[in-house]
Amino acid sequence: MSPFHVTRTLPEDATGAALRADVLRGLTGTPKTLPPKWFYDARGSDLFEKITELPEYYPTRAEREILVDRAGEIAAATGARTLVELGSGSSEKTRHLLDALTALHTYVPVDVSESALVQAGEALVAERPHLDVHALIADFTAGLTLPDTPGPRLAAFLGGTIGNLLPAERADFLASVRALLSPGDALLLGTDLVKDASVLVAAYDDAAGVTAEFNKNVLSVVNRELGADFAPDAFDHVARWDSGLEWIEMRLRSRTAQTVKIPALDLAVDFAAGEELRTEVSAKFREDGVRAELGAAGLELTHWWTDAEGRFALSLSTVR
Ligand SMILES: C[S@@+](CC[C@H](N)C(=O)[O-])C[C@H]1O[C@@H](n2cnc3c(N)ncnc32)[C@H](O)[C@@H]1O
Repeated sequence: MSPFHVTRTLPEDATGAALRADVLRGLTGTPKTLPPKWFYDARGSDLFEKITELPEYYPTRAEREILVDRAGEIAAATGARTLVELGSGSSEKTRHLLDALTALHTYVPVDVSESALVQAGEALVAERPHLDVHALIADFTAGLTLPDTPGPRLAAFLGGTIGNLLPAERADFLASVRALLSPGDALLLGTDLVKDASVLVAAYDDAAGVTAEFNKNVLSVVNRELGADFAPDAFDHVARWDSGLEWIEMRLRSRTAQTVKIPALDLAVDFAAGEELRTEVSAKFREDGVRAELGAAGLELTHWWTDAEGRFALSLSTVR
């Protein structure tokens, strides 16, 4: 079997310390917010995989369609020997790239979810005896140090996850990705596109209620990690399209006036009846905007591919 290394760049208490800081800032601010990375404990990662199979959740199928069609072109354009995937999750769709990248030596999946990384990494090394898999448990917004592996490097950021960053965070993030790359390296970026609001809202508010469960999971994470007493069912799942900012917001709306205690922070948080806590934004993109944001980070968009229905785009860009 090929080598499988797991490196943790987050200190053991990173989750605790960062979660405490985010919860304190987010739940004492107005409006209340929590960053989406806290959805992804083992249960949240499993729920996300279920979301990718829902009839309403088109992004995974659309991005897979592009990967199937274009993986050969991506391989020819990059000649990548190392694939670094940010927010790799289950690495399911990545298999299409791994199949096509015939010069590939090392795959570096990066995720905050240890359970997702270990499950994906073990399956991949069993399937691909010649691939070196070096998993990184890390926060991709916190400055990554990559293992020393052969170039050229292809960084991939799939799933439209970039839309979960706010515009200023996106600019910082893209600049940090650019700093990881050298001339001859490339970035493969998946972006969900602006489209009809009813299609977008349905993708984040499915009939089976899986996205609602995923959304409420962040409250269970805060309960378990910080001893809080959130009653997840005292909140309703809300998905709303903001046509000005061109993003979906997921929120949790308090059904009643209630006070939640968070002992690890020595904090009591009051919610008014109907008050909403924002748990995620998911920005949707247009080609010009993606090109401009990449350009501002020192990356030049060289390829733009969409699925047949024009719902989702994959772009390839190189270091300028
Ligand atoms: C929307 S899912 C996409 C998963 C997969 N790339 C796909 O396309 O299906 C986002 C993934 O990014 C990870 N993630 C979210 N925020 C992160 C962060 N700040 N640092 C590292 N991983 C993060 C989550 O654990 C999850 O696996």
